[in-house]
Amino acid sequence: MNSSNLTRRSLLLGGAGVATAFALAACTGGPNLLTATSAPVTAAEKARRRTGRTTQVQLTAGKTDIDLAGRTASTWAYNGHVPGPTIRATVGDTIHAHVTNQLPDDTTVHWHGIALRNDMDGVPPITQQPIAPGSSYDYAFTADAPGTYWYHPHVGPQLDRGLQGPLVIEDPHEPLGYDHDWVLVLDDWLDGVTATPDQVLADLKKGMSSMTGMGGMSGMMGGGQEGTPTRNGNLLSGTSSSLLGGDAGDVYYPYYLINGRPAGDPTIFTAKPAQRVRLRVINAGGDTAFRFSVGGHRLTVTHTDGYPVNPVEGDSILLGMGERYDAIITVADGAFPIVAEAVGKANRGFAILRSNPGSPTPTANGYTAPDTSPVTATVLSATSADTLQRRGIDRRIDIALTGGMMKYDWSVNGKVFDINNPLDGAYTVREGERVQLTIANQTMMWHPFHIHGHTFQLDGGPRKDTAIVLPHRTLRVLLDADNPGLWMTHCHNVYHAESGMMAVLGYEKS
Ligand code: C2O
Ligand code: CU
Repeated sequence: MNSSNLTRRSLLLGGAGVATAFALAACTGGPNLLTATSAPVTAAEKARRRTGRTTQVQLTAGKTDIDLAGRTASTWAYNGHVPGPTIRATVGDTIHAHVTNQLPDDTTVHWHGIALRNDMDGVPPITQQPIAPGSSYDYAFTADAPGTYWYHPHVGPQLDRGLQGPLVIEDPHEPLGYDHDWVLVLDDWLDGVTATPDQVLADLKKGMSSMTGMGGMSGMMGGGQEGTPTRNGNLLSGTSSSLLGGDAGDVYYPYYLINGRPAGDPTIFTAKPAQRVRLRVINAGGDTAFRFSVGGHRLTVTHTDGYPVNPVEGDSILLGMGERYDAIITVADGAFPIVAEAVGKANRGFAILRSNPGSPTPTANGYTAPDTSPVTATVLSATSADTLQRRGIDRRIDIALTGGMMKYDWSVNGKVFDINNPLDGAYTVREGERVQLTIANQTMMWHPFHIHGHTFQLDGGPRKDTAIVLPHRTLRVLLDADNPGLWMTHCHNVYHAESGMMAVLGYEKS
């Protein structure tokens, strides 16, 4: 496709361009690692159960203006809409996505949570070259597990613009019964209002120590009570939450959205009393954990990150960036707030559930979210069908989450990820191994830790692809190395990832 294009651009860039061209050449796998296009990748795809049907999708990434309750924001989005179109396919279908790049910047599409063929994972430069402005790219892959997933670019902090959309893989033998299936995309919004994500990243990289008015330091240190955050330009300090073990996030967002709409112009979902609704909740935010609840309703959590769990009831759910939870509600009679509290940030996303046309319309602030413990991954367990088989561990990998806010040097094992040399410091596995990952958070802040191409299992817990690791805590997960290739593993705080908290997990050649 556009590799010749890239080489030409690189050469035109002179010195820096030479470095880029060199790095791209170095990304064709190390001497001992499989590449994204190696035979085992093709063999793994062939082994996937397929229906023979194709779901065709056209995605155009371009500039667009969106309306935020009367305020216009210029942003980047898919097909002119935030969020992008909900892609629905049946398990085993081939998803064929024709992606056109009308942005002024390179882009890609990553299919978050899908254990797909490595060369379709959308991660430049390790699985493909970026899609250059004005060009297009065809993704084609089989989705072999049903569930709630999403898609976003894997270039810079682009996902903190409007470039994000839901991807739902349906089960033709869906065991859950429900009358409605609603997707709720939770998002923190700043693009085109206060700054672009690139400006925010630049501000963060100056380091917290350069900030004036450190009114929030006490909150950062505390970790117990919810602090009162202090805004410093594009940054926030003092966003403390006990749910997240301290500092909740560092970016100031003027809006919080549910399905692209702010509290002043909420989405209204309608149903009939006593109907059952499956909610597919996605945290597509950049730097915000959400506590999700529906006023007057209990949530029965049935899935996380696409995979079924033994159902657990609760009043609310905590979602880190990249996480998904599915829950069933039985609709009560009335009109109810749907709330996504921005944890530690004293703000919320808001939508409405209405089952009675006569009931008064709820308001965003006229609702106090329940103070019972939210459902989190730690109280969930995989269903027996989705529990990894018992077997011995073949390989143990220690992943330390390192760095900090002061220098903004987020890293893995003390190594700031270098996109020009992505395989430096890569973790390696062999196909067929049972792998134990021990993820030790050595920092003062929580991180939603994500791995591409696989779903791991928490110790006695659920299957997931993104999991919250609290400060100074360790998470132990098991993973079957059954999807050969080069896979990113990183924090899903897009600013942490972009500043270096990323690494590659690569399969050795056998
Ligand atoms: Cu949504 Cu690299 O991930
Ligand atoms: Cu992080």
